[in-house]
Amino acid sequence: MTITILLDIQTYLFNGGRKIEVITTIDEMQKRADGWRQSGKTIVFVPTMGFLHEGHLALMRRGREYGDILVISIFVNPTQFGPQEDFETYPRDFERDRRLAESVGVDVIFAPQNDEMYGERFQTYVSLEELPQHLCGLSRPNHFRGVATIVSKLFNIVKPHVSIFGEKDYQQLVIIRQMVRDLNFDIRIVGAPTVREPDGLAMSSRNNYLSPEERRSASVLFQSLKLAQKSVAEGERDARKLINAASAHIKSVPHTQIDYVTICDPETLDDVDQIGGPVLMALAVKVGKTRLIDNTILKPKGN
Ligand code: PAF
Repeated sequence: MTITILLDIQTYLFNGGRKIEVITTIDEMQKRADGWRQSGKTIVFVPTMGFLHEGHLALMRRGREYGDILVISIFVNPTQFGPQEDFETYPRDFERDRRLAESVGVDVIFAPQNDEMYGERFQTYVSLEELPQHLCGLSRPNHFRGVATIVSKLFNIVKPHVSIFGEKDYQQLVIIRQMVRDLNFDIRIVGAPTVREPDGLAMSSRNNYLSPEERRSASVLFQSLKLAQKSVAEGERDARKLINAASAHIKSVPHTQIDYVTICDPETLDDVDQIGGPVLMALAVKVGKTRLIDNTILKPKGN
């Protein structure tokens, strides 16, 4: 109790004496955004599905540098989950999220209910032709349609000038950039580096699902990316050899099941055979029942 009160006082002071505001309706959010825009304020937006961790907080701290009003959304978006996926069990703790967001100076949390975002007769989706046909899109067929749709809706509701996305979800970032170009959203998209645990595991709300033993196995994703980086630094240019070495390493660790290990063009996501310039190495691995993703850019010397 005492700790919570101290934390609240500290965050209240951090935020220049302003308490964080929670908005739950589209109408109210749009009116507030219009008001800020009319008074010349720059709106920065970090969309999230909540259960915030240090990775999200890093995006928010970054966001503070880009404008006057920092808005985050907390919405577990049903349309980006497949029928067998974890929509129902996705971790949720709004009070904890509110305190964490306030501690890094967020001004407003937009936290709508499902009905507010998807009315009964909802029928308009945003889907991209090619970028979702790679990496995670292959095993999560409608995932990026759900992401592009909710992000478009959030952009129209929060009306940001700048929006920040993590590079951990690299394919999502590339898709959002493409969508913003294709649909002429007047929004600057900023990518922010992946935040990692001390053993290299990329921070994710889903790490929470891992048992202690699975958690130990999960560092294999980062280890395999490091292995590939080292081989490229030593002169290896054959993508297949790098993929095979990473896959063998992952398979040697208990509780792991590979979804994909890919080396591809960082913009088109098309497969690459020979590494002649910077390429994306991306992987998705199930550790126990939890699907984890990670990626790195492999840069041959001189690039
Ligand atoms: O990256 C996420 O957490 C989600 O995909 C996003 C961008 C908030 C859309 O629901």
